[in-house]
Amino acid sequence: MHIDVITCLPKLIESPFSDSILMRAQKKGLVTVNIIDLRQYGIGKHHTTDDYAFGGGAGMVMMIEPIDNCIRELRRHRTYDEIIYTSPDGDLLTQRMANELSLRQNLILLCGHYKGVDERVREHLVTREISIGDYVLSGGELASAVIADAIIRLIPGVLSDETSALSDSFQDNLIAPPVYTRPSTYKNWQVPEILLSGNQSKIEEWRHAQSVERTKKRRPGLLQ
Ligand code: ADE
Repeated sequence: MHIDVITCLPKLIESPFSDSILMRAQKKGLVTVNIIDLRQYGIGKHHTTDDYAFGGGAGMVMMIEPIDNCIRELRRHRTYDEIIYTSPDGDLLTQRMANELSLRQNLILLCGHYKGVDERVREHLVTREISIGDYVLSGGELASAVIADAIIRLIPGVLSDETSALSDSFQDNLIAPPVYTRPSTYKNWQVPEILLSGNQSKIEEWRHAQSVERTKKRRPGLLQ
């Protein structure tokens, strides 16, 4: 998989890709991530990427021209499956969506900023708009990092134990069961006896029951 991230603030998004699982995925050659500073495509001496909104109002708007030029340049090298714009009014990111995107080959993540992008970017260049939740961030960089993380960890070989992504919360519309590690007793707080029993089929039964119970209590909507 290849992901191009277009942003006005490259520093804000570099670190999640420079550590831990996302870095290892790149080192293993399973994904390449390229962060592009939109200012490279900015207009004029000051490499401007935003301007005042027509009709007035507070907040700057990201201009179409730098974005169009940037995407055109990227398209000279690749055909993209999706050009994703991060925005609080996009479709809510779900595990199902991450699963689906993890099967794609080439993605662009365009990070929104300021008051958003010129609407023509959304109409003519973007294929999909994704929100990571019903709240407003100061920019799309953190949202892009979240989306990329949710996708990249699903690529086969990225996690050392592939089954661990399959047993994540939400993969079967259930929340994951509780987990424990040593010591089995701490300050008189005990690990459930069943987990120490060595009876694997009983343990799996218990885990499933816990998942169902937790989902009913915490996220009943998932069960419908
Ligand atoms: N940009 C600002 N807020 C956002 C959100 N909630 N999701 C995606 N992009 C955003």
